[in-house]
Amino acid sequence: MTEFVKVLSVQHFTDDLFVFETERPTGFQFVAGQFTMIGMGDDDTMRAYSVASGPTEKLLRFYSIKVQDGPLTSRLQHIKPGDTIELGDRPVGTLLIDNLTPAKNLWLISTGTGLAPFLSIVRDPRTYEKFERVILTHTVRDPEELAFKEFLENQPIVYYPTVTRGFFKNQGRITDLISSGKLFDDLNIPRFDLSYDRIMFCGNPAFNDDLREYLESNNWKHGTMKTPGHFVQERAFVTQNRKNG
Ligand code: A2P
Repeated sequence: MTEFVKVLSVQHFTDDLFVFETERPTGFQFVAGQFTMIGMGDDDTMRAYSVASGPTEKLLRFYSIKVQDGPLTSRLQHIKPGDTIELGDRPVGTLLIDNLTPAKNLWLISTGTGLAPFLSIVRDPRTYEKFERVILTHTVRDPEELAFKEFLENQPIVYYPTVTRGFFKNQGRITDLISSGKLFDDLNIPRFDLSYDRIMFCGNPAFNDDLREYLESNNWKHGTMKTPGHFVQERAFVTQNRKNG
């Protein structure tokens, strides 16, 4: 089922990225990390969007790429406050802290708009009840794509932004910074350890595959509702990326 909600605000970060806020319908409940479907309401094209707002906020926030010939975002990027969009009413997804076994550190590793679910997770008080320390990494192509930087710098987390194409203090793909150990040296935090660390990740499909392979080859187990584990990833997110948005 879907319903129509009013757009409250739209902010364009770059030619490729924007964020928009909508009304939150009464009864729209979600757990931080879940996604819902979004469409324009004028055809069947809907895409999965992680909810980027916190579970207790009054409005809903979504973070999107703009694909100039994308079936949805070529049109969605032109929405204005007062317009309506179509919203799926049943948020779902497995990128939940409940799917992780208890540990000391929670790593939130994202690329591009894969940051969205973590913007919700860092706003959720339950995150800090379960984990002592939260470390969020965000890798983008260019520094201007480091959306929400100021917000993240002011959260009770360790925030580590990196850039792969433009110039920035932290350079490189996060997967390379993990395997070389540079990430841990820069943060002065010990390397991943199954006894202390849990990992959530979301982003570019190739990044998702590479990180999962790396973790599984080191005996990390993917967590589910039924059997919580050491890491969780959001796979559904690939339905909205730079190629098919
Ligand atoms: P790169 O610039 O080296 O491709 P995108 O905007 O294309 O979704 O990418 C977001 C970020 O994810 C970019 O910084 C990109 O780096 C990085 N990335 C792409 N593929 C991988 C991968 N397989 N492993 C790690 N990072 C990746």
